[in-house]
Amino acid sequence: MLKKLFIAGNWKMNKTASEAADMVSSLVDLLVGMESKAIIAVCPPFTALDRVSCILENTGIELGAQNLSDKEPGAYTGEISAGMLLDLNVKYVIVGHSERRQYYGETDQLVNAKAHMALKSGLKPIVCIGETLQEREAGKTMDVIKSQFSGSLAGISAENILNTTIAYEPVWAIGTGKNATPEQAQEVHKFTRTLLKASYGQEIAEKVIIQYGGSVKASNSRELMGMPDIDGALVGGASLDAHGFAELITNALKK
Ligand code: 13P
Repeated sequence: MLKKLFIAGNWKMNKTASEAADMVSSLVDLLVGMESKAIIAVCPPFTALDRVSCILENTGIELGAQNLSDKEPGAYTGEISAGMLLDLNVKYVIVGHSERRQYYGETDQLVNAKAHMALKSGLKPIVCIGETLQEREAGKTMDVIKSQFSGSLAGISAENILNTTIAYEPVWAIGTGKNATPEQAQEVHKFTRTLLKASYGQEIAEKVIIQYGGSVKASNSRELMGMPDIDGALVGGASLDAHGFAELITNALKK
């Protein structure tokens, strides 16, 4: 089915607000015209959201954040609420990135609470799932995907799943330069689509965007995006440079 590719750049803990503003100003010029062919988003650190938001106004390029609190505003030192993000015109929010699961102890239960908070507030969550190398080598990839899928997406209604993006990010492919082959990624994407079908039915399952993430770059974006169940990309390192990210998107659109 025809749906627009959704390509988002996850900058992780990179760029000051000034560096972010410079980069996004160049990116906006480079992407003119492309924003109508794909959904394109950048997810800078919290401290750069305000400045980047102003630059993105009326450009058709979307703004995302990398995390949010599962709580309503209140006494939660160091946390950022959904409302604070919405106020800066943030539309998407990454939840359950493997780095948050691995280094900050985020469980499926917390990821699920964050996804619900995002949806209830009008933000669109990008929910990340993916296996480690050890799990893949032990033949447990599909079990891990199934359990993260059911845990992280528990209780999300049919209406809300359409506002949710799933990002398949095999942990062994993140920041390693070693992407999953298009066939390896497709296998997991197809399985994820089957899980969506079982929960929400065929029609909805086909509409949900499933991004691939893990060493996506300009040289492999076209073949990865050419696979039938890969609907977009969540890009780390290769989204930090305006020219490189624009080239990656240009190539992805040739799929
Ligand atoms: P890299 O593209 O740097 O491998 O990172 C992927 C990622 O984690 C995006 O969220």
